[in-house]
Amino acid sequence: MKDTLVEKPKTTTTKRPRRLRGAASRFGENLDVWAAYLSNEKADSEETTEGVVWKAVETLIDVSGADGCAVALADWGVEMLSERRNGDLVRKTSLRDTMAARGTIGHKALRTGVPQAVYEVGRDNVHHYPDLVRNGRYSSAACFPLGHRGRSLGVLTFLYHKPRRLERRDKDLGVILAHSMALAIDNSLLVSEGKQNRLLTVQALIRSLEAKDSETSYHSLRVTQHSTVLAEEMGLSPRQVEAVQYGATLHDLGKIGVLGPILNKKGKLDEDELAVIRRHPVIGARIVENVDYLSAAVPVIRHHHERWDGEGYPDGLRGGKIPLGARIVSIPDFYDALTMSRPYRAAYSHEKAVRMVRERIGTAFDPDIAKIFLSIQEGWKNPAQ
Ligand SMILES: [Fe+2]
Repeated sequence: MKDTLVEKPKTTTTKRPRRLRGAASRFGENLDVWAAYLSNEKADSEETTEGVVWKAVETLIDVSGADGCAVALADWGVEMLSERRNGDLVRKTSLRDTMAARGTIGHKALRTGVPQAVYEVGRDNVHHYPDLVRNGRYSSAACFPLGHRGRSLGVLTFLYHKPRRLERRDKDLGVILAHSMALAIDNSLLVSEGKQNRLLTVQALIRSLEAKDSETSYHSLRVTQHSTVLAEEMGLSPRQVEAVQYGATLHDLGKIGVLGPILNKKGKLDEDELAVIRRHPVIGARIVENVDYLSAAVPVIRHHHERWDGEGYPDGLRGGKIPLGARIVSIPDFYDALTMSRPYRAAYSHEKAVRMVRERIGTAFDPDIAKIFLSIQEGWKNPAQ
């Protein structure tokens, strides 16, 4: 399973304005904080794996009294480090150069299943240390393997600026912390993989349309990508974003109920043919209405051709009465359809399609959402800005 995490191009630093409870003097002193984290984590199934790891390493800084706490996820090849700096916690991310890579003590811990500790990193000429550790001027490091159900998920590392020897009790506690953290990560990965499999099933469904209209499945993928970015930019919850994704992927599924000659007609459609085409949102919604995990996508599918001014179809809904997901998907759907070549016309340029979206703000499209869509398009055109 891959996540958006692996797309991050380089090391990033994010400062989080959070007051610390004060450095713990003993390893494992604030175990109640960790217990509270774990019980919250169980209740929050919407959290991404990335979010689970960040929360865990930041909580473990309080619990361990370490100056830095990092998790290297082996499959993703990413290190997520949280460290104390002037009373705040700072996040750093590194790709590939991690404590789970070959030649590190983390890799040794991962390979043997036995925790590894180094008293003075600067004097260790045997093992490799990632730049995140070297640049943080850490003296001591302790690595615990993150394993669960026979899976080696990665390595949990505690880092200290002053040389520090971990006692037997510290190591025993570290094993327990790493085990419970591996459980939380593994649960999160299972949820993510389940979601990913469902999305692939949905995409397979839309490919069944290819026999009738070869462009539809590619169109659906592009509309899904643009709609997802738009929904995330609007600050929607992960569950709302997921509904938009499913709705965007399946918005034209109902075209399976429209005859191929009408879908691929080169000339202009007559009134009867238009009436047939306009049935596709209702047909699509009916096909999936009894699929439990697609229930939130049904309004998106049914209403993606409604217009802000009430002149759309199938129900002529107006303004805020149009479901939010449908108001979102309708914009990338319109934009992408214009940039595709169709049997009856050549593809429009990006500039012309964007201009046509702008001209329909407040008539076809929700003004607030359309403006966000246009600002995203502008950003993609000028990535340096
Ligand atoms: Fe459509």
